[in-house]
Amino acid sequence: MNYYLAPLESVTTYIFRNAYHRYFLPLDKYFTPFIVPHPNKKFNTREKKELSTEHNHGLYVVPQLLTNKAEDFITTAKEIENMGYKEINLNLGCPSGTVVAKGKGSGFLAYPEELDRFLDNIYSKLDMKISVKTRIGKTSPDEFYRLIEIYNKYPLEELIVHPRLQTDFYKNKPNLQIFKEAVEMSRHSLCYNGDIYTVEDFQKFSEHFPTVEKIMCGRGAVANPSLFDAIANGKKLDINTLKKFHDDIYMDYQEISSGERNVLFKMKELWSYLIQSFDHAEKYMKKIKKSEKLLAYEKAVSDLFANCPLKKGI
Ligand SMILES: Cc1cc2nc3c(=O)[nH]c(=O)nc-3n(C[C@H](O)[C@H](O)[C@H](O)COP(=O)(O)O)c2cc1C
Repeated sequence: MNYYLAPLESVTTYIFRNAYHRYFLPLDKYFTPFIVPHPNKKFNTREKKELSTEHNHGLYVVPQLLTNKAEDFITTAKEIENMGYKEINLNLGCPSGTVVAKGKGSGFLAYPEELDRFLDNIYSKLDMKISVKTRIGKTSPDEFYRLIEIYNKYPLEELIVHPRLQTDFYKNKPNLQIFKEAVEMSRHSLCYNGDIYTVEDFQKFSEHFPTVEKIMCGRGAVANPSLFDAIANGKKLDINTLKKFHDDIYMDYQEISSGERNVLFKMKELWSYLIQSFDHAEKYMKKIKKSEKLLAYEKAVSDLFANCPLKKGI
């Protein structure tokens, strides 16, 4: 089985993935949150940090681009290739209203003929490995048949499928019936993504799809960073390891952020996932959320680790 960390904008940053890699199951691939190519504009500071090979040493990182303009994709992909990357990913999944209104992310799926031309262009002009991360359509699962036909025309490095529609956002359940048809119809190596939170979720999935050998997890792996360890070798989450992992991320954000507010913003976002691994933690989570100073935050976190057990079975 190949294991991939899903991109979660502003959560699975280089700081997160390096700390993850230090303490938990090293993954086959780490996808960066999306980068929007801008014509005639260099990478901004955040993007430079995210892509710097120094910050991704020893990790197989796949930068992800979000655009519907082939020229922008090509120019930026070449810059990324020059930095030493061998592979790039196209985001056809982002459901956010502003992105979709511009015909990007899962909004691009509503324009299959344009998408076809876009793929023709990028695959003929680039030598890099290019993978695609897609939803199954914008408003109807029936859209996926045409999309699969289009994907089948090009040499995708792999096809990562999050079987939801744009209109689902993160609601409803992944559509496993359509994913099954994708397994039958696609000529590409498929990676499954969506709602794997526990070993049982994974086991159920792999019983239904024994031929799928790649799995990507996002929210489940941020909530329980030992999820992949548990799937791969039954290893449970250890609270001391989780504390060290947290402390590394916290220290690293302090080093790179300007001001306590920015550090706290990042840490609170991380806790909105991590908290799901603890029992009886509501009171401490409230304190974390309310903290406006690092000292108050540290006290809340230390109380939480001292008083809240990890959920059973994780
Ligand atoms: C807060 C958040 C940010 C996300 N950012 C990205 C992104 O930058 N690129 C992308 O392809 N998907 C993004 N996604 C989607 C995830 O990569 C993934 O496809 C989705 O969460 C389903 O997988 P999961 O159930 O394992 O989390 C994001 C999801 C969330 C919740």
